[in-house]
Amino acid sequence: MPLNVEQIRSDFPILSRILPSGRKLVYLDNAATTQKPKVVINAMNHYYENINSNVHRAVHTLAGEATDAYENARNSISKWFNVDRNQVIFTSGTTEAINLVVHGWGRANLEKGDVVLVTEMEHHADIVPWQLLSKERGIEIRFISVDPETYRLNMDEFEASIDEAKFVGCVHTSNVLGTRNPVEDIIKIAHERGDNGNGARVLIDCAQASPHERLDLTDLGADFVAVSGHKMCGPTGIGGLITTQHVMDEMQPFMAGGDMIEEVFLDHSTFQTGPYRFEAGTPKIAEAIGWGAAIDWLSQFDMHEVHKHIHDLAAHTASEISKIPGIKVYGDHSDPTCSGVVSFLHESIHAEDLAHFLDLGGFAVRTGHHCAQPLMRKLGISATNRASFYLYNTREEADAFIAHLDRVVGRLAK
Ligand code: ALA
Repeated sequence: MPLNVEQIRSDFPILSRILPSGRKLVYLDNAATTQKPKVVINAMNHYYENINSNVHRAVHTLAGEATDAYENARNSISKWFNVDRNQVIFTSGTTEAINLVVHGWGRANLEKGDVVLVTEMEHHADIVPWQLLSKERGIEIRFISVDPETYRLNMDEFEASIDEAKFVGCVHTSNVLGTRNPVEDIIKIAHERGDNGNGARVLIDCAQASPHERLDLTDLGADFVAVSGHKMCGPTGIGGLITTQHVMDEMQPFMAGGDMIEEVFLDHSTFQTGPYRFEAGTPKIAEAIGWGAAIDWLSQFDMHEVHKHIHDLAAHTASEISKIPGIKVYGDHSDPTCSGVVSFLHESIHAEDLAHFLDLGGFAVRTGHHCAQPLMRKLGISATNRASFYLYNTREEADAFIAHLDRVVGRLAK
């Protein structure tokens, strides 16, 4: 059944906002962060107003209620991704999840000369931590290139390097192009042929996929999956690294301190097993509860419909704005697996200027390099404007955006 977008919108107070310009907000920056439904805001308020307490420590009533709410959130999240609750390590988001892989697994398992294969399409969070480890350890980072015409990974380069790779990191869906990569093939080939037949470990960055694709992570079979709560209607400051007990056993703790230990002596310590080993200190309690509420709210929708809705809006927008003189759209929106992002650039109007005039019309889009400078260089540009759709956006909003962009370009272009 198609989404009832008007009913969905009524769950989001912010979508009725009138901006200082006097224009109604049209929020098209969903790839950066999504808006939050009332149930998420209420769940976090409920925690602070009624049960605020630390978790896993005291035996008083509030501590028990807070611990139950926090752990119930882990249950909702694990059920959504079809994994065991002990496979979900809470992090502050995708960036921390990837850093946990690099420092927790990479430091414990990679040595000088080992090959880490990543792609030119990665967000900086899956490039820079490897560069830091490379400086420290002398690992070799190889990049699978992106074809700037088709916006796809060069899989021949992947095949050429995979036998030597001990680790593969790949973004599931690009935050700039919307391209959905063939992650199932990448995981299968890396497990069969990586590390000269021993199998490479694989990390998939699912930050841009989890908002609109129902990911069955047991089925997917990646060794590590990184996700963010705030891109799927949850609060900022919470996300997860989803892995297996077997892989956790290969990892060393990254952050150390309270809660992750079993016993501490002056000369050594022993550590908890499972996700708790990697969750040092007071965790993000309200945020985890909010993310759990977001996932419970999202569970009412058929994610195929969510994907279809955002893809249709993006494909329509991409097709219409590419008719505006001087506008170039980046990404293949004719591919039905492409996500809801539309990156574009005008040949002579600076992206920041364009964004300013879009904002005056009420349209919130992201502008800049989108934390993907190597990809920008490959495309021969330094920035784009990016409109990104989510389940509460309407066809009317897309059409109003197209018309406003057309007017602005008509006025500004020389
Ligand atoms: N990576 C996020 C984006 O694309 C922040 O906007």
